[in-house]
Amino acid sequence: MKCGKKILNGKFGMIDLLKKTYSGKKIFLTGHTGFKGSWLLMIFEYLGAEVCAYALPAADQPSFFDMIQGANRCQHIIGDIRDKVKLSKAILNFQPDFVFHLAAQALVRTSYINPIETYETNVLGTAHVLDALRNLEKLCNTIIVTTDKVYENNELGFPYKETDALGGYDPYSSSKACAEIVCSSYRRSFFHPEKYKLHQKGIASARAGNVIGGGDWNKDRIIPDFIRALTNQVPLEIRSPESVRPWQHVLEPLAGYLCLGARLAEDPQKYSKAYNFGPYPEDDLKVIDLVKLAIGHWGSGSFIDASNPNAPHEAKLLTLDIQLAVKELGWKPQLNAEQSIALTLNWYKNYLDDPAGLTLAQIKSYFQ
Ligand SMILES: NC(=O)c1ccc[n+]([C@@H]2O[C@H](COP(=O)([O-])OP(=O)(O)OC[C@H]3O[C@@H](n4cnc5c(N)ncnc54)[C@H](O)[C@@H]3O)[C@@H](O)[C@H]2O)c1
Repeated sequence: MKCGKKILNGKFGMIDLLKKTYSGKKIFLTGHTGFKGSWLLMIFEYLGAEVCAYALPAADQPSFFDMIQGANRCQHIIGDIRDKVKLSKAILNFQPDFVFHLAAQALVRTSYINPIETYETNVLGTAHVLDALRNLEKLCNTIIVTTDKVYENNELGFPYKETDALGGYDPYSSSKACAEIVCSSYRRSFFHPEKYKLHQKGIASARAGNVIGGGDWNKDRIIPDFIRALTNQVPLEIRSPESVRPWQHVLEPLAGYLCLGARLAEDPQKYSKAYNFGPYPEDDLKVIDLVKLAIGHWGSGSFIDASNPNAPHEAKLLTLDIQLAVKELGWKPQLNAEQSIALTLNWYKNYLDDPAGLTLAQIKSYFQ
């Protein structure tokens, strides 16, 4: 049965589509020890999918992955995405129905410190995932997760469409733009939609903006920095107060990735391409406005402007056009900026007793 767009008008109906698509299916997930990957692991368990997952050990302390006892929720493989042989064996042994590739060096500032490692992980790692699929002799749909930073950003104030030029100033952004080019090349060279019957692979990429949500302890991200400043009773240092970003709660792009996977399963020839996922334009916020909302919701906290004119370049303005995902996938944002911040801070206020239970409760209330 095909699920038309109507089913996703409003969040009611999304859960039916996702359960129908993923329940009992085999999912190969990379990057499951990270922030988004840990949320996705819990969502797949909620949807009744079987997950085999591949990543480096959780790096952050505290670790969200450990808090939710992620290793007990999947076939947990510690491995490097740069290890082509090990990754390929893991994928071929598992024989997945879907692959969600999230593993990455995901920080702009780290990419200035370790550019080569960033390119190896983000570009070669993506090629390794796609290459393994060439030897997988069964139907499989794959979502390659990149970022809104893949566009050549001239900061003129226009929201980027999927057809806009790829680029990227810093090594992280350009590595993800390269990952998009690798994805497009593999799709055309080995998994061409017109030859779908021969290879049975749908390949799409997902470009989402900055996300916030409980469980993120990454350095150099605004909400984890805010929570650490509160804990240490010091003002939050804001590096780029005037920078505008398409912020979203983590569940929003994850719902987008899952809808994209569901659509690929329905019609791989139609949906094998790139999609943006972001908020409505009115929810694109300056960093300083996000921080003010966070302080308001938390009830305390302060900040100082720590912008440094000599800091490595980071884009000041970045917005996304999400019309393609809204029109074709039936996905749309469910939470505005204020609701996203409230949900995020609710997690950090209440996680200590039962982080997995709280995470699952937020997943259930979002999807139902
Ligand atoms: N968090 C955001 O705001 C955001 C925005 C847009 C796109 N993304 C993308 O979403 C994905 C997940 O981001 P995140 O915020 O969860 O990042 P994260 O840093 O929290 O997690 C990264 C994951 O990748 C794994 N990884 C890193 N290097 C690896 C390697 N060499 N081999 C195997 N695994 C490796 C880590 O172990 C971890 O599981 C990334 O592809 C990122 O670029 C994130």
